[in-house]
Amino acid sequence: MFKDAVLAKEWLPVAYSQDLGADPLAVKVLEERVVLFRVRGAIKAFKDLCIHRGAALSLGKVKDDCIVCPYHGWEYNVDGQCKKIPQQPPNRAIPLKAKAIVYQCREVYGMIWVRLSEQGSDAAEPLPYYEEYNHPSFKTVHAYAHTMNAAAPRVVENFLDVSHLAFVHEGSLGHPDYTEIPDYKVNWRDNHYVSDEIEVYADADGTGNWSTIYYTFEILRPTVARLKKVNYQTNEIFSMLFAVLPQEQLKSTVFALVSRNYELDKPDEYFQEFQQLIIEQDTGIVESQKPEELPLDLQAELHLNPDRVSIAYRKWLGELGVEFGSDVGRKAKTI
Ligand code: FES
Repeated sequence: MFKDAVLAKEWLPVAYSQDLGADPLAVKVLEERVVLFRVRGAIKAFKDLCIHRGAALSLGKVKDDCIVCPYHGWEYNVDGQCKKIPQQPPNRAIPLKAKAIVYQCREVYGMIWVRLSEQGSDAAEPLPYYEEYNHPSFKTVHAYAHTMNAAAPRVVENFLDVSHLAFVHEGSLGHPDYTEIPDYKVNWRDNHYVSDEIEVYADADGTGNWSTIYYTFEILRPTVARLKKVNYQTNEIFSMLFAVLPQEQLKSTVFALVSRNYELDKPDEYFQEFQQLIIEQDTGIVESQKPEELPLDLQAELHLNPDRVSIAYRKWLGELGVEFGSDVGRKAKTI
């Protein structure tokens, strides 16, 4: 079974806040079934399994601040303690073992993040900082959640790949006459990798305004990255926080925040649909890649200068001990 020990300690995006209503919601995280539910404005994440007979709690309902199992009605409070077993008299003690497994859960940037390490276990890295979300000059929309039949690192690396724009996204992001990528470096700064600004002749957002744009990629966590595109002629900035949920080894869901400091009145749907077009163009390519898992052995595929962000990503996954691929990367802080 796929359950990467390193990724289990990461905050992983599991849903947008708006997708969780009054009823419990089932999600899958690293092959683990997880149920999300709301109690008094807070979101809780439990293993989606009742200890009595293994039914999915996500098929139940929320009542009196408890999640109620759909099979025999056992009620679990927000700490996972079973508070009611309807089949026994109220004065009979509830077995101590009658508990649900509680995972850490946070709601940030309009997204729900889960950490499979149980509550009270070792400290988590902070959630990635994305300043545009609350910045008054920016407007941020949530891209449509999108699932690919691909390993999460392959999906993230595609987001970090500047070379494919003129091919996979010809006419929408990249221009076929401008395929050369200037040399750049990737540096280790503030506990993550950051690329130099990479000059690209591109259309930042599919509006048909071709211009010289400067791309900066940041690899924030094993499945979270960020991209900033700046047009210095107009001071327009287009940013994205790209966060991938590894549902299964070869099934991943992308959540993304898309921000801009211009055209604030343009309908959100324009940016959501544009991002959907882009990710659909990527999907067939990423799902076709072999091996399916990202090779962390740097000799396994051929790398060129424009691939420096990808090289940094592979090295970092190796350093962190993420178990995708067959080998670990070598340590380097400047790529
Ligand atoms: Fe949940 Fe019986 S399986 S109460």
